[in-house]
Amino acid sequence: MEISLLKSRYIEQCAEVAYANYLEASDLFSFPEENNIIDILRNKIEQLSVFNLGVVAVENEKVIGYILGAPIEEFYGKNRGIYVPLYAHGAIGDKVTINHLMYRKFAKLCVSKSIFSHAITFYVNQKEVIDGFVWNGFGFRCSDAIRKLEKVEFDCDYEIREVSLAEAPMLHELVNMHIEFLNSSPLFMFRQPEHSSKGLINWMRKETNRVFGIYDDNKLVSYMKVTEKGETFIANQKSMANICGAYTLPEYRNKGLASRLVSTINNDCFKRGYTHLGVDFETFNYLGSRFWLKYFNAYTLTLVRRIDERSRIKF
Ligand SMILES: CC(C)(COP(=O)(O)OP(=O)(O)OC[C@H]1O[C@@H](n2cnc3c(N)ncnc32)[C@H](O)[C@@H]1OP(=O)(O)O)[C@@H](O)C(=O)NCCC(=O)NCCS
Repeated sequence: MEISLLKSRYIEQCAEVAYANYLEASDLFSFPEENNIIDILRNKIEQLSVFNLGVVAVENEKVIGYILGAPIEEFYGKNRGIYVPLYAHGAIGDKVTINHLMYRKFAKLCVSKSIFSHAITFYVNQKEVIDGFVWNGFGFRCSDAIRKLEKVEFDCDYEIREVSLAEAPMLHELVNMHIEFLNSSPLFMFRQPEHSSKGLINWMRKETNRVFGIYDDNKLVSYMKVTEKGETFIANQKSMANICGAYTLPEYRNKGLASRLVSTINNDCFKRGYTHLGVDFETFNYLGSRFWLKYFNAYTLTLVRRIDERSRIKF
């Protein structure tokens, strides 16, 4: 096997490897039924290849593995980083060895360009490959999860409804509490508080964006936001909607409020013709991860690694 820089003549074969890995995962998870996946994969790989940050594993003229990414100026900190999305790497055959050899060349290429934070999204079913990256110094960061929609029955002692534009200032307060939570230990996610509800109002005005809330005596105590776009090419299929934020006031937690909001959004999306609902979450958010995994199946894991930036002196 030869590991070399990714050239445009290999893209078609990379898309075939990506498609083979997608089919393996779709056998296990119920992904939306789309028939143009291979075209989506080819286009995305082609778009990402403009950064010239990719390598391929080739055996007898056949691509058996590839990895490429997009550079990001400040990534999880002040350093340059690279993000390798779900579609931007894959392997067939001895996946563990191929990935090990590819990452060695890929990491060298990145570090030679002062790219020190590396993040890669994997299908959850590629457990041995993921383990190999953990041995390479990677750790878990986030996950995408999915559920198939069918109508669910539920009841609730509180009032549940869509949050109106007039209620944006009340929602804004909870959104800022959520941001504060994300900044707190042990998450330490860098997020600026929203200074006014203007941005939120603009977001809510979009036809595809909706916020549902639970009220206690007209006071908003829990919310959940839903939109069309998600974080993976699977979550971006037309038949899939995505939850993009949830928060319950601490004194109202463990009363089943967020669970009721999942059911509400489930039924609303089902009524609107979506077949699937997705969510992405930080794995180190203990409360959040535990909550989402009760109602969704994780199909990706994103692993991150930060390399000592002083290692540049070796190049
Ligand atoms: C994650 C979060 C939204 C869940 O909200 P919630 O309203 O407490 O959620 P629920 O009550 O529906 O479910 C949470 C827990 O309560 C339990 N629960 C559900 N109904 C219950 C009831 N009637 N009585 C007691 N417990 C109940 C659930 O089983 C679950 O428990 P478990 O995780 O220990 O198994 C909330 O913890 C939160 O705001 N966290 C901070 C922000 C955050 O992490 N957001 C999500 C990531 S974007």
